[in-house]
Amino acid sequence: MTTKEADLVLRGARLLTLAPLGGERPRVGPAAGDVGAVEDGWVAARDGAIVATGHGSSWERLQLVNAAAVDDVGGRVVMPGFVDPHTHLCYAGRRWDEFAARRSGSDYLAILERGGGIHATVRATREASDAELLTLLRARLDRAVAQGTTTIEIKSGYGLEPEEEIRLLRLISQLRSEAIVDVAPTYLAAHALPGKAGGDRRAFLRAAQSVLARICREHLAEAVDAFVEKGVFETDEVAPLMHEAAALGLARTVHADQLNDVGGAAFAARVEARSADHVSRASADGLRALERSGTIAVLLPGSALFVGYPPPDARRFVAHRVPVAVGTDHNPGTSPLEGMPAAISLAVTLCGMTPQEAIVAATANAAHALGRGKRTGALVEGRRADIVVLETDDERELAYRLGVRLVRSVYANGQRVAQHEFIS
Ligand code: NIG
Ligand code: FE
Repeated sequence: MTTKEADLVLRGARLLTLAPLGGERPRVGPAAGDVGAVEDGWVAARDGAIVATGHGSSWERLQLVNAAAVDDVGGRVVMPGFVDPHTHLCYAGRRWDEFAARRSGSDYLAILERGGGIHATVRATREASDAELLTLLRARLDRAVAQGTTTIEIKSGYGLEPEEEIRLLRLISQLRSEAIVDVAPTYLAAHALPGKAGGDRRAFLRAAQSVLARICREHLAEAVDAFVEKGVFETDEVAPLMHEAAALGLARTVHADQLNDVGGAAFAARVEARSADHVSRASADGLRALERSGTIAVLLPGSALFVGYPPPDARRFVAHRVPVAVGTDHNPGTSPLEGMPAAISLAVTLCGMTPQEAIVAATANAAHALGRGKRTGALVEGRRADIVVLETDDERELAYRLGVRLVRSVYANGQRVAQHEFIS
């Protein structure tokens, strides 16, 4: 091997490489839980990219440059940084009343129908200044990063009117330009029908569609999303929006079959979406369609827990060889999760994943859900040096200790962005 230069080496690790298993595809079926573990492993990076991995003392053959940091992690787990493939981080306001009302029996969709829910957040977000929203965004991102997130999708969706959506996308863009972690912006074009639309759904969707070209030109979003649900938007209504997105080269993603089976999974497959998200109620036909199209099922157990509907059963997706990812779905209405460790824990306890499947779902498969399967999500040469060190020598503990911090340090693009002390 030619001598490789490194400015960062983490050695003495239980290294979860998540190395691709032949082909750069998401892991499915029996491979869905293969974390590619290496005992006494090491990973080396230079200028923000991984240059090599190995085990034992072979790291000594690296040429250390730029006052390299070499850290013996003492048998701790070292793994890829988490990829959160679904968040609604850009909003103002609080919905504690709604949360409390729902827990005493009020229905999520009925609250929305009465002009609360998403609409309440839309009102608060409109009233917030750009500076206020940026402050909120930065704080939420910081908290996610402190818990190991190194790539994050952020949706708009609390503007509803296209011009207000564009304001939110610009703020997400601003955050993206200043963040060390990787931010993937999504235009959530059809989240709810705004009151101002006067019930004219078609006119509203046409207006949303009409700004796609501009959003594309100004690089304000990589993907377009819609909330397909009973009483919200129907698949046929949002089909033209999705087709236009595809024609412009924007990726598609769908809030599908969250509370009711409305054929959302099959629709996501039909528009060749990168992901179908929630899919708690997806039918067997929907699963077969996802398998055929290679669309990733993004499971979001936080919202199932906090709204109180049955969580998606991961075993069905694994059995159908549908690739599974997991996300926080952070938003003010249905999911308070900010960090991926809680999402991993809930994916195991509520959705029936194994701890290793949940780790794959939160790293390699989630990276694919954001079109970043070759950029991050694995510790292999050429990927971004997005790395998490856990305060344990067994990754299963991550799924078990819900609410306990186990993330020790976080590196994004080769830079240490978080470091936590632990009481021994
Ligand atoms: O993913 N259900 C649609 N969108 C979000 C919730 C939005 C809200 O209630 O503010 C979700 O659950
Ligand atoms: Fe969501």
